[in-house]
Amino acid sequence: MEATIVLDNVKHYPVLLKEIISVISPQHGGTFIDCTFGQGGYTQEILKHKNTKVIGLDRDINSGIIGKKVEKKFPNRFLFKNLKFSNLNNLKLKNENIKGVVFDLGYSFTQIKDLEKGLSFNSKGKLNMMMGLNNFSAKDAINNLEVKEIERILKYFGEEKDAKLISKNIVKERQSKEIDTQGLVKIIENSKRKKNYKTHSCTKSFQALRIFVNKEISELIDGLIYSSKILKKGGCLAVVTFHSIEDKIVKYFFRSISENKTVSRYEPKLQEKKILFERVLKKPIIPSEQEIKENPPSRSAKLRYLIKKEDSYDIESDIYEKFSHLIEIENLGLKL
Ligand SMILES: C[S@@+](CC[C@H](N)C(=O)[O-])C[C@H]1O[C@@H](n2cnc3c(N)ncnc32)[C@H](O)[C@@H]1O
Repeated sequence: MEATIVLDNVKHYPVLLKEIISVISPQHGGTFIDCTFGQGGYTQEILKHKNTKVIGLDRDINSGIIGKKVEKKFPNRFLFKNLKFSNLNNLKLKNENIKGVVFDLGYSFTQIKDLEKGLSFNSKGKLNMMMGLNNFSAKDAINNLEVKEIERILKYFGEEKDAKLISKNIVKERQSKEIDTQGLVKIIENSKRKKNYKTHSCTKSFQALRIFVNKEISELIDGLIYSSKILKKGGCLAVVTFHSIEDKIVKYFFRSISENKTVSRYEPKLQEKKILFERVLKKPIIPSEQEIKENPPSRSAKLRYLIKKEDSYDIESDIYEKFSHLIEIENLGLKL
């Protein structure tokens, strides 16, 4: 199995590829949904197995260029959709033999390098951060939200200790000029009380803004709920996360649908629910030392998976209530 794909002389490393293929078992055939098609790393590996079909989704229209090439190569076995995975229910998949749904969350190397997208604090481009199919940009948020609202985003989505000071300085600065990416970098650097020499001063705030702009919390929760519904008996739901908020959501959801005990003390009725999923491993699968050496950004990846035990569309989970405090913050974007 090749671990890399070469795209215009840039190497793309699909993270935990061998491990993903081993848990979803495409050698038995069936339909697979690649919810984060990206550069098609997972999809192309699945399609190497006969009797498989893949539907690849990506909110970034640029992924469609590779998507079209894969469609040409596998005309009856692959379909690309420029769609957010929160809209998985629009695909009318109830009668498909769905044997695997995979998520590889976060951003591809190509997106991080794309100046137009402005996802990284190294970007000299616009303060954008939109992955695709968004309603507002980071520029809209930073230049329009109230100080307390910006503080909540930085604190809860980035776990940024200096959220209060950074948001105060953002609001002060924007009175004299519109803030762009490098402007924001300077504000954050000047607001940090303690320098951390291991991570860049902007890492947490930029993570927070990307989550907010792309509504990553509700995207993930909706995506998990719909994919657990459409999977058929014996099918696998596999998710690769990159930061602690994503992992907390996946871990909680997986527990809530694979254990008979109530996860939340507020939901006693979950005690009688039917258990439809099996969590084979309690601990996540992480990249090998070799993979981290070859592709250092993979070091924070965690793969969790579940196997569906029965065909059923009725999934009970209190996941929305559990993370309602985060969804509330995301909803601040509705006014932008
Ligand atoms: C880490 S990359 C996936 C790489 C892919 N596994 C591969 O091997 O090429 C993540 C991709 O997910 C897409 N994405 C992120 N959130 C999404 C969402 N809510 N709906 C659809 N696509 C999403 C991003 O645009 C990006 O292309």
